[in-house]
This record gives sequence, C-alpha cells and structure tokens, in this order.
Amino acid sequence: MKTTYSDIKLGSEETLGAMLAGLKGKEGFFPYLHNDMSKFVPGASWVYYSGPYWGTEEIGAAVGSLLQGTWLSAGESVREFETAFSRKIREKHALMVNSGSSANLVLISALKRRFGWADGDEIIVSVVGFPTTVTPVIQNGLVPVWTDIEMNSLNFDLEQVEAKITPKTRAVLLSPVLANPPDMDRLIALCKDKNIHLVLDDCDSLGSTWRGKFLNEYAVASSNSFYSSHHLCTGEGGMVVSNDEDLMKIARSLAWWGRDCVCVGKGNLLQAGCCGKRFDRWLPEYDQVVDHRYIFSEIGYNLKPLDLQGAIGVVQMTKFDEIHRRRRLAKERIGASFEKLLPVRVPGEHPLAETSWFGVPVVCSTPQQKRALVAHLEAHKIQTRNYFSGNILLHPAFTNFGDWREFPNASKVLDLVFFVGCAPHYTESVFEYFDEVLAKFAE
Ligand SMILES: Cc1ncc(COP(=O)(O)O)c(C=O)c1O
Repeated sequence: MKTTYSDIKLGSEETLGAMLAGLKGKEGFFPYLHNDMSKFVPGASWVYYSGPYWGTEEIGAAVGSLLQGTWLSAGESVREFETAFSRKIREKHALMVNSGSSANLVLISALKRRFGWADGDEIIVSVVGFPTTVTPVIQNGLVPVWTDIEMNSLNFDLEQVEAKITPKTRAVLLSPVLANPPDMDRLIALCKDKNIHLVLDDCDSLGSTWRGKFLNEYAVASSNSFYSSHHLCTGEGGMVVSNDEDLMKIARSLAWWGRDCVCVGKGNLLQAGCCGKRFDRWLPEYDQVVDHRYIFSEIGYNLKPLDLQGAIGVVQMTKFDEIHRRRRLAKERIGASFEKLLPVRVPGEHPLAETSWFGVPVVCSTPQQKRALVAHLEAHKIQTRNYFSGNILLHPAFTNFGDWREFPNASKVLDLVFFVGCAPHYTESVFEYFDEVLAKFAE
C-alpha cells in the first residue's frame, strides 16, 4: 500500500527522523527525488532541464518546521535563511518573499520610493528575458527602454545600452540570461559615468561571479528566486538584498502589508518590539499612544513566505558551492558534446566571469536545424527550453510597449537558440547519454 503524508502520526512517540527513515524506501514517497540521477536509465528516464537539488534533509526541514509548530508564516527559519543568505553573498540586508517575481516587484517599488523616481522615468532593460523582470517597471509607472542583445554572448548589447541613456534614465536593470554576465567592467563604468543605478535581477544568475565577486556586489540592490529550477530551491520563494538600510526598510514594509514595524521572527514576540517603544506616539497628528505594529507607512502588499520555505532555504545554503561546481561541470561536458558532434555554437563565459550556468545555450545554424534538434532531444526524453521569451515585444502582453522589429537579434534568438539543462544532479551516465543522442542526430 502506498504511504501518504496523512500516515504521519502527529503527537506520537515517533520522532521525525524515524518517520522519515521508515518512509524513505517506500515508492513514490519522495517525489522531489525525481532528479535523483543515481537511478538514471538512458532512454527511459527523463533528463529534466533542472529541478530541486533536494535530499531528505530538505523534506525533513519542511515537515519538521510544521511539526514543531512555532512558526507558520515567516518567522525564525525565514530570518535564519535571510541571515545565512546575506552573509554568503556579502550583503548587509536580505528580505525573503514568496517568489522571484515578488522580489522584483518589491525591488523596483522600493527603489522608486527610496530614490524619488517619478512616473515616466526610464529604466533600461533587455528585450530578451523573463517577463516579471520587466513587469514591475511597468506596474510602477516607469518606462522600460528596450535594448537588443548581441549574438556572440547572447547578452545585453552594451553599445545599445549606452546609446539609450537619456536625462530621464534612472537605472539599468540587468538580468543575465542563463546566469552569464556581460562585460561588467564596462557596464559598471557606464553606470558610474552617467550617474545611474545598476540594479540586478539575479534570479537566474545567483552564484555567478565577476572578478571573484558575486554580481550583486556591483548592484545597488538585487532580487533572487528560489523557484524549482534555480540555483537554490525552496519550492517557491525569493529574496531582495542590498546594503542600503533605508531601501530595505521600505522593501520590508512593502512586502509586509505596508506596516512601519520591521520586527521579524522572535522580534515579533517581544512585548516592546525590537525598537523597545512599540507603544508610543507613532502617528504625527494623533497625540495618543498607539501600537507600532498597526502603523502603515507604505502602500503595501502581502508577499511573505511560509516559515517552512525558510527552513528549506537554510538546508539549501549548505549546498550553495556544490551546486555551483556541479552546474559548471555539466555545462562544460554537455556544451563540449554539442560542439564536438554538431555544427552548432555554445556560447561561453567572459574570461573575468565564473558563471553558475542555469542551462546550456545552443545556437543553431538554421531554424530548420533548431526545430529538428529540439524534436530529436525531446523524443529522447531530454528536456529543452526556449531562450526564454526571445523577443518579448512579440508576446501579446507586451506588444503595446514597443516595436519588436527594432530588435532583430532578439527575434533571431527565437529562430535559432534553445537550451538544455546543466543541472547539479547530472552524473557521468547522463553526460554519456547526451553524447549518444547527439551522435545519433549527426548520423
Ligand atoms: C530572470 C528571472 N527573473 C524572475 C523570475 C521569476 O521568478 P519566480 O518564478 O520565482 O517568480 C524568473 C523565473 O522564474 C527568472 O528567470
């Protein structure tokens, strides 16, 4: 009989560890181990392009968090994850939210408030990427100014970025597709010279470095995603990071209903709050004592995660470097197979970058070759993906925001480029399977 989660007996003598050990061998009980490549059967198992790099530790942390029962919404585990995460990527402040898209929404909204950007101010973005990198720009009444990519690296065309800066430009919003950064020296110098902010959507590129520093270290603030396919996974989840305390206070308020109080975790339980003056005269035009927890200083949202997502994140942090190493190895091995066996190109990284590859980009010679190769890989159970949106201005939601014809390389990407995974789960037998399947295509 198949065991289900409802078989867990709350309040019994059984410890969580014993329960997990008992359940471990039962078929179908650990669905998140579908990426466990130790049981890979060439041709029968799917090669997913990515997925949670989880073991029983993550499941244990999540279930343990529920069984312990202290925090359900963002509490001490979320706080612990924020602390470990910000330390690792060398930022002073971190705020966990319920997705990378929410992180982008909070990031752009908070930057607008912090730096007094006006409606109609311009933000430079790439026309190739993920929609929710750009949607918060539009949702905040700012104007996305599109730039094309250049075909060699499939990255932001920095010539175009420079040409598009106007007196209304407030920031460049960088989002390295598949985690591969452009020439950061040039981009940083450009932003400095023009006195505009460099903002980073780091959802795909967490772990990538430039001159040995994480990409976020060059940005005023960054967003991250912990969706299943990303470097770290908490199921769903996101993080905003920055060294700017004022910015992060606004960000936390926006994500927590707009409230002024920034107590988190145990701080929420302190009778006098973290500031020690929870009951005070907080309202400028009301001379009575009021509770700070119900003072609202922003037009906010509720984008908080569950505490169990924080608990999973704490475990995932222990795998941060291992995931980086394994992704890079997989990119190198699979990229080399493609280039050795087929007339395609696999873009690499800049000599000053160490990319935490999210996937292996493949540039085909013709649209027919792309179609045939994608069909062949999928028929052999190797997942493929588009190079994200391709030209985003071709998509129904974006057609009113610019003319797709002005960005020919972005359209070319739809014709010629796709990617396969380089997930940390991949083993030697997966690499050999890629060789076999690609050789068959070449016959
Ligand atoms: C670059 C980029 N930004 C933002 C997101 C959105 O993240 P989430 O799925 O966590 O909302 C994604 C995709 O997941 C992404 O690839």
